[in-house]
Amino acid sequence: MSDGIPPRLDIVGEAEALIAAGQPATAATLLTKRIEQGRGGVLARECLVRALLLAGENGRALEAAKELAQLNPTIALAMTSLGDALRASANLPAAIAEYQRALRLDPEAGRARFGLGLAWLDAGEAEKALEAFAAVEENVTGLASATARAEALLTAQRSPPGYVRHLFDQFSASYDERMLGQLAYRAPATLRDLFSLVATFRHDLAILDLGCGTGLSGLAFRDLARTLDGVDLSPRMIEEARKRRIYDDLWVGDIEDKIAQRYDLIIAADTLVYLGDLQSAVARAAGALAAGGMILFTVERKDGEGFELGPKRRWRHSENYLRSVAGRCDLEISGLLECTPRHEAGEAVPGYAVALSHSVAIGREAG
Ligand SMILES: C[S@@+](CC[C@H](N)C(=O)[O-])C[C@H]1O[C@@H](n2cnc3c(N)ncnc32)[C@H](O)[C@@H]1O
Repeated sequence: MSDGIPPRLDIVGEAEALIAAGQPATAATLLTKRIEQGRGGVLARECLVRALLLAGENGRALEAAKELAQLNPTIALAMTSLGDALRASANLPAAIAEYQRALRLDPEAGRARFGLGLAWLDAGEAEKALEAFAAVEENVTGLASATARAEALLTAQRSPPGYVRHLFDQFSASYDERMLGQLAYRAPATLRDLFSLVATFRHDLAILDLGCGTGLSGLAFRDLARTLDGVDLSPRMIEEARKRRIYDDLWVGDIEDKIAQRYDLIIAADTLVYLGDLQSAVARAAGALAAGGMILFTVERKDGEGFELGPKRRWRHSENYLRSVAGRCDLEISGLLECTPRHEAGEAVPGYAVALSHSVAIGREAG
């Protein structure tokens, strides 16, 4: 045939074989041509979405999936396919809605149920993911490993990165207004006050803002900075921070990742409340401190020992626990204040603002 399409009716079978042979891009080309000729049904279009996703063409897959769903609004497979494409584009709320729509159309749609579980898992909602996985046939590829990942999240001593990313991605546009209005957010200002108490004032600091969010914390320290960098799990919070034009470098990442540079001052305003066990994050920060450097952070307060997950899915830490983490990281506590980082439903949330340093504090001359 002149258009290069094999002269057979089972174009979907041909495309499936190409996908199985590791050639999804070729399968997608074949299917696209057939659909452009007006000869693609639901199965061909669904197969195209899968082929494009496997080929890493998430944008095209989403377009194809939207068309498929629009043409077949009562077919569960079409909604599932759209859910898959949305999940691949990290649009989790919309993906979850499409999988749920597919399940309303066909409560037995196993692929939609599995996709729903995976979307909940991406969003860090382990219990909801496990509930969906429990209703999926056992022999589905990937079910065992997805279930194991969800179970691991349930016992993790930190908030799942997917949950944090999803939460703050959704929250990013209204974050400043909500925090500064309803929640009377004061963590950055409190850290700045603590800095003034424990460090000799300097203007030329290399500063890293852990969990920088939209940059409220960076703003409170910009005037002290020679350079100001920020890292955050949420790409949309990073986008908002970038708009402020106060950071030199911003990247999407986890504060438990290795920090590539050295900093005089590392701040984490209202960020460590998304970690239970602080050991690895504080050790990372300690390893990135320049001589005489300092770490400043806020947490929410737990009385007694250890740490616990609060009802708002933020962790609370006890003073004793903070002291033991500092000790294990060879840091000393150069300041620890009781404070109110924010309000919740009109009530003050009790917290601590903490300054940790190596033995030589910022701004003081060594020896
Ligand atoms: C309550 S906001 C505080 C943002 C900013 N520090 C401020 O003062 O406005 C918490 C931020 O920490 C980020 N975050 C939480 N856990 C994180 C982690 N493990 N790694 C990187 N960022 C994290 C969140 O995405 C969110 O933007």
